[in-house]
Amino acid sequence: MKHVKIFALRRSQELGRQIAEKMGTELSELVTQRFSDGELSPHFTTTIRGQNVFIIGTLSQPHSNIMEMMLTIDAAKRSGAKTINCIMPYLAYARQDKKGASRSGIGARVMANMLEVNGADSVTIVDLHATQIEAAFNIPTVHITGRNVFIPKMKEVLNDDWVICSPDAGGTVRATQFSNFFNLPLAIIDKKRDRPNSIGSMILSGGGADVKGKNVMIIDDMIDTAGTLCKATDMLLDKYGAKSVSATITHPVLSGPAYKRIAQSQITKLYTSDTIALPDSKTFENEEIYVPKNKIEVVSCTTAIAKVTEKMISNSSVDVGLEELILEN
Ligand code: R5P
Repeated sequence: MKHVKIFALRRSQELGRQIAEKMGTELSELVTQRFSDGELSPHFTTTIRGQNVFIIGTLSQPHSNIMEMMLTIDAAKRSGAKTINCIMPYLAYARQDKKGASRSGIGARVMANMLEVNGADSVTIVDLHATQIEAAFNIPTVHITGRNVFIPKMKEVLNDDWVICSPDAGGTVRATQFSNFFNLPLAIIDKKRDRPNSIGSMILSGGGADVKGKNVMIIDDMIDTAGTLCKATDMLLDKYGAKSVSATITHPVLSGPAYKRIAQSQITKLYTSDTIALPDSKTFENEEIYVPKNKIEVVSCTTAIAKVTEKMISNSSVDVGLEELILEN
C-alpha cells in the first residue's frame, strides 16, 4: 500500500498483526523503550514522512496505554506523518459519557480532547459505550458497532426460540439493532447502580418481551466485573423463568472478580471479542483464577477493522464496507 504505514502499540501487537494480515500487509516497526519508573519513549525506526500513519492500540489497562498512544501520536507528528489515524478498538473512559454527578468530569470528553489536541486526524473505535461520544470529537470518527462484529456469528446461533435483552436502559439502542435484524422480541432490564461496578436493583421493565421458556441473548458493550451479567442471568432464570441465558458483549474488560463470577454463574455462553485479549488466568484476592474458556467464545473484531481501514485508505464508504460484512457473512 502506497503512502500507508500501520503500527501497533506494545500490548496490541497481536491484534495489529491480525488486522495487517487481513489487509494483505504487515505492521511496520515501532520501538518503545521503558524507563525504570514506567515512563515510555516510542520511536519509529524508519521514515514516515508524508505517510498516512495508522496506529493500532486498544486502551484497556488505560493509563499506560493511553500515555503510549499519546506519545506515539506526538512522535508521528514530529516525524512529518501526513495523517495520523488512531485505531482504538476499546476506548477507555467511554463509560464516562456525561456528568455522573454534580461537580464531576466527563472522561470521554477528556479522551477526545487529548487525542485531538495531540494531533490525531481520525479515530476508529469499536462499539462505543454511547454514540453521542462522537460529538466530543471534531475529527472524523469511524464507529464499528457490535452489530458489525457479531451479526455474522449470531446468524449461526439465534432462531425463533430466542429473546434479545438489554441489561439496562442505556443499552436499548444496541440491543434493538440485534432484535430488529433478527426480528426477535426485545426485553429490557431496569438496572440501578448505587456506585460504580455495584448494582443497587434490577428488574425486568414492563412492556418488554416475556422471557419465560425462552433462550435469552443479553447484548452489552462491555463486561467489567461481570456483576451486571451474572445478576441479570440469575434474575432471568430464577425470577422470570427463562430457559437459558447467553450474552454477546463486545469488550471483555473482565477485571476483579469477573472470571470467578463467570465460572460460577448460570450463564450458558459469553460471546465476546478480541478488542481486549483474554489472559489464561488472573489473580483475584491472591487466588489464581483460570479463565473459563468453555463458557467464552471470542469473535474477532479484526475483520471489521481491516475492512474499514481499507475503505479509509481507498477514500471509499466505510458504511458500505460494514454493511457488506453483515450481508455477505
Ligand atoms: C454499563 O452501562 C455497561 O454497559 C456495562 O453493563 C457495565 O459497564 C458492566 O459492568 P460490570 O460487568 O462491572 O457490571
